[in-house]
Amino acid sequence: MRGWGLYLAAPLTICLLGATLARGQTGGAAPPQPSPMLSEQAFKNVQVLRGIPVKEFMETMGFFAASLSLNCSDCHSQASASNWANYADDTPLKQQTRRMIVMVNAINKANFGGARGVTCFTCHRGSQRPKLIPSLAQQYAAPPDEDPDEIVPLAAVRVTMTADQILDRYIGAIGGAAAAARLTSYTAKGTYEGFDSDFELVPVDIYAKAPDMRATVIHMRAGDSSNTYDGREAWAAGPQDLTPVTLISLVEDSLAGARLDAQLAFPGRIKQILTDWRTGFPALRIDDRPVDVIEGRTPDGTGVKLYFDRETGFLVRSVRYSRTAVGTVPINVVYSNYRDVPGLGVKIPYTWQLTWTNGRGTYNVTSLQPNVAIDAARFGRPTPPSPARN
Ligand code: HEC
Ligand code: HEC
Repeated sequence: MRGWGLYLAAPLTICLLGATLARGQTGGAAPPQPSPMLSEQAFKNVQVLRGIPVKEFMETMGFFAASLSLNCSDCHSQASASNWANYADDTPLKQQTRRMIVMVNAINKANFGGARGVTCFTCHRGSQRPKLIPSLAQQYAAPPDEDPDEIVPLAAVRVTMTADQILDRYIGAIGGAAAAARLTSYTAKGTYEGFDSDFELVPVDIYAKAPDMRATVIHMRAGDSSNTYDGREAWAAGPQDLTPVTLISLVEDSLAGARLDAQLAFPGRIKQILTDWRTGFPALRIDDRPVDVIEGRTPDGTGVKLYFDRETGFLVRSVRYSRTAVGTVPINVVYSNYRDVPGLGVKIPYTWQLTWTNGRGTYNVTSLQPNVAIDAARFGRPTPPSPARN
């Protein structure tokens, strides 16, 4: 897929106050969620995708881009590439997209009881104009490889290893439960490169504290881009050049995702962080190596798939899902470069690549200090970088 290029933007005034009730906030025993800023509060010209948190709105944009293989500026005006405010301008493709959202909602309501039986991807499959005539070339070609991120229904295959055995093998591979339990916090320095850094290698600082606090601060040219989770709440902050909203509080699936990333930083507790483990997925190879796949659920019910290298036992990939206004998007993390944490006898991945529908970035740890005291404020709400002078 084509890249998004670097988004440059002029200041956009955002109303941080007055966020109203988030959806799904009232249910029984669920912990109270912070009120996120909603799409129509953050943006100027939202006609259909109203009442959803900003993060979900942006992931919905990613869903469109992934379903039609379009860049942001293909639907938005070319002028949007240099200024976030211009994303509000209407274009024929934006108008068509609004009609499509209404159409898809109507199809799902009439035929699938309102569930997402059909999404943009069902028809578009990565093209702007859905095909009408079946392809003989495709029909007679070798079947394409399985997409490892796909949500597959449990196939009736023989289960050779239980989820417990796969997880035990992983814990053994990284040095055993006792060694893993010795890692209780770390700070790390390294490099980051991604769409948002325009593929420039920039410094990153990572802070993690067991069982579930984590912060990453990427020192972008335009200012720091931070993601934090303090064990309860998660935030994302970034410079105006890189994000239309410089500080957001994450809710729902994004919050669950931040929690999961924080928990996975401490591999020794992997069995406890997810429940309802399932196994028995079809055989799969990633980079030509056989992997074993298991699925678990976070406390809020979100499914997460974990992929373990059959030979080394290491966790090589995780996939989680985030529901958007028009369907579910996958978010995957590929872990590699397992190395010893100095002095503890436990190995963790020193490299990971995060891919989602509107971006991709690679983190590479170059030095790590285990079991250090970290100020709790590190994991709390970050301060967005001050606006660049114009
Ligand atoms: C298939 C077309 C399409 C693609 C691709 C797309 N968008 Fe959009 N975008 C829309 C539509 C339609 C709206 C208006 C939604 C509404 O009215 O409810 C919108 C609205 C927005 C807005 C709000 C602007 C405002 O102030 O009202 C932003 C910001 C935005 N998009 C960013 C992006 C980014 C970033 C990408 C790339 C990851 C992207 N879009 C990709 C169709 C698209
Ligand atoms: C039931 C099938 C179907 C679904 C589902 C669907 N589309 Fe479409 N879409 C079409 C067809 C068919 C066309 C081509 C119409 C034409 O040729 O004029 C189209 C055209 C478009 C176009 C205009 C492309 C162009 O170059 O003019 C956009 C943008 C678009 N769809 C976006 C979406 C988005 C976003 C979604 C999900 C909210 C979606 N579509 C869901 C069938 C679908």
